Amino acid sequence: MRLLKTALVAGALAVLSVTTIAAYAQDTKIGFIVKQPEEPWFQDEWKFADQAAKEKGFTLVKIGAEDGEKLMSAIDNLGAQGAQGFVVCTPDVKLGPGIVAKAAANNLKLMTVDDRLVGADGKPLEDVPHMGISATKIGEAVGQAIIDEMKARGWKMDEVGAIRVSYDQLPTAVDRVEGAISVLKAAGFKTQNIFDAPQAKTDTEAALNAATVVLNAHADIKKWIAFGLNDEAVLGAVRASESVGIPADGMIGVGIGGAESAINEFKKPAATGFVGTVIISPKRHGYETALNMYDWIANNKEPAKLTLTAGALAKRDDYQKVRKDLGIE
Ligand code: GLA
Repeated sequence: MRLLKTALVAGALAVLSVTTIAAYAQDTKIGFIVKQPEEPWFQDEWKFADQAAKEKGFTLVKIGAEDGEKLMSAIDNLGAQGAQGFVVCTPDVKLGPGIVAKAAANNLKLMTVDDRLVGADGKPLEDVPHMGISATKIGEAVGQAIIDEMKARGWKMDEVGAIRVSYDQLPTAVDRVEGAISVLKAAGFKTQNIFDAPQAKTDTEAALNAATVVLNAHADIKKWIAFGLNDEAVLGAVRASESVGIPADGMIGVGIGGAESAINEFKKPAATGFVGTVIISPKRHGYETALNMYDWIANNKEPAKLTLTAGALAKRDDYQKVRKDLGIE
């Protein structure tokens, strides 16, 4: 009798656990919060995160949070909706400790993408799993592409001005532009010919405004190069050069990203000063981070603390192939 009872209980438990697992997958809810929902890069991240949600059967809640206030209420909101975790690219990395506390208060697992949180001392919060680009290396690839193009055009470096479109409150942005500068300097580019163009926001308009100031202040320089943290930054500098009458063959801009902003530029019938971009992978940043979060919630498998992704240079004539090779077509 006792044996029978035990068997019945075990059977019931087995049934229960199977249904629990099925219900659990269905009930898994993951937030994906980004700082600039209108930027094609972030649209692509969401697109690939959606792919992971479809494959695994969890619910993805996409939220745009352009400032700290919106971000904090988004986290509360996810908690109230019964989400178990979220991936975030914060509008301000200095909110780091606040974000960590808010996530914990709502019992949400937290992973960051693109922009890594920093503490009060400005150092990265290493306990929060993060996926970002290998910023210095990618910046170096930008610098090298610019050098190669200057050589191809037969430019004398001393006649050239460089626009460093900057957003120095964001460490990955500093690493990217400094990577480019290190290669330029190693090739003989003079420091005094590099001009800082600090952008108020990381979009094209802010970059255009910042670059215009530099171009107007140095109207004697007729040949320019430009780099920044993303395609939008460099496109801003290119638009600024056009507006002051510098022709396409007087500007060499190389961006980082490779999403629609760059593609639209390459599709224009005539080449512009936007010569190339180092394409990075929204698939890894969107699909993989969402999957990592799902595995953490459903299978208790914690993501790696730090994953840095690579990029590949692309130009007008080969960007489609590079995108295909990266699996992001
Ligand atoms: C930052 C930039 C984005 C994009 C990502 C890539 O968040 O603002 O445009 O370059 O990094 O990680």
